[in-house]
Amino acid sequence: MDAIALSVQSAYKTFGGSPARSFLSRPNGHFTPTIAVNRVSFDVRRGEIFGVLGPNGSGKSTLIRLLATLLVPDGGVISVFGHDVQKEPMAVQRLINRVSVEASFFKKLSPMENLLYGARLYGLTGHEARVKAEEILQRLGLQPRSFERPMEEMSRGMQQKVAIARALLSNPIVLLLDEPTTGLDPRSKREVQAFVRELRDTHDTTIVLTTHDMLEADELCDRIAIIHNGNVVALDTPANLKKQVSNNGHVPTLEEVFLKMTGEQLVKEDQAD
Ligand SMILES: Nc1ncnc2c1ncn2[C@@H]1O[C@H](COP(=O)(O)OP(=O)(O)O)[C@@H](O)[C@H]1O
Ligand SMILES: [Mg+2]
Repeated sequence: MDAIALSVQSAYKTFGGSPARSFLSRPNGHFTPTIAVNRVSFDVRRGEIFGVLGPNGSGKSTLIRLLATLLVPDGGVISVFGHDVQKEPMAVQRLINRVSVEASFFKKLSPMENLLYGARLYGLTGHEARVKAEEILQRLGLQPRSFERPMEEMSRGMQQKVAIARALLSNPIVLLLDEPTTGLDPRSKREVQAFVRELRDTHDTTIVLTTHDMLEADELCDRIAIIHNGNVVALDTPANLKKQVSNNGHVPTLEEVFLKMTGEQLVKEDQAD
């Protein structure tokens, strides 16, 4: 039951350490790389919703890109259902799909057109693609008359859901959602969260999502890795994380957990939604 979906061992990724990045060089000719992901280790179990919670710049997207084979680690071993991301990137790509924070789609095209375009990339043929796209759009709560409206006329929440829907066309066993609800209004946020939950419950999909929203992580995730400056500073279920820092029977919020673990606020004033 507890099969390991993702295994991350001592993953390490720096940026800007190569002489090619001369704009980062110091007068003495040395380069100071940014350590974006610093020897991070964790496992994600099959069927889990695993949260990576951390402030801006903490390394969340870099971690997601490493898992998605979009970046190559400088050190460590990452595998997806036993396939090493460096040795077998193609096998990993077949199992995984990613939705980035700025959901990308053709905004003049309708949800249906966007999905059909995506389907072609995944090798689905015309009829099969249309049936599947319709099924997914209905599950998203989209009225059939909206299937053909341009995406640009829709709410950000709906656009984000269409981006997730497109990723689902490839039947990913692992879905990576990089800040799926950042910048959404509260209602769209709840819709996307409900959709993520439904996905996990009905599709045996393993989901890794990043967020800087503590409430979201608390409500949605089975386990959470709190990441700060590229380091995992805590990893457990939301309940256990709170227990770790509880004090005199006071049950802390995840915000308080983060503050205690890092000495910093999770969301700084300037990045609050
Ligand atoms: N392509 C890149 N080139 C140089 N530095 C990068 C690049 N991507 C990320 N970084 C740096 O790595 C660190 C982690 O960034 P990121 O993974 O995007 O954090 P998060 O997603 O948590 O906001 C930051 O210091 C960021 O500036
Ligand atoms: Mg990011």
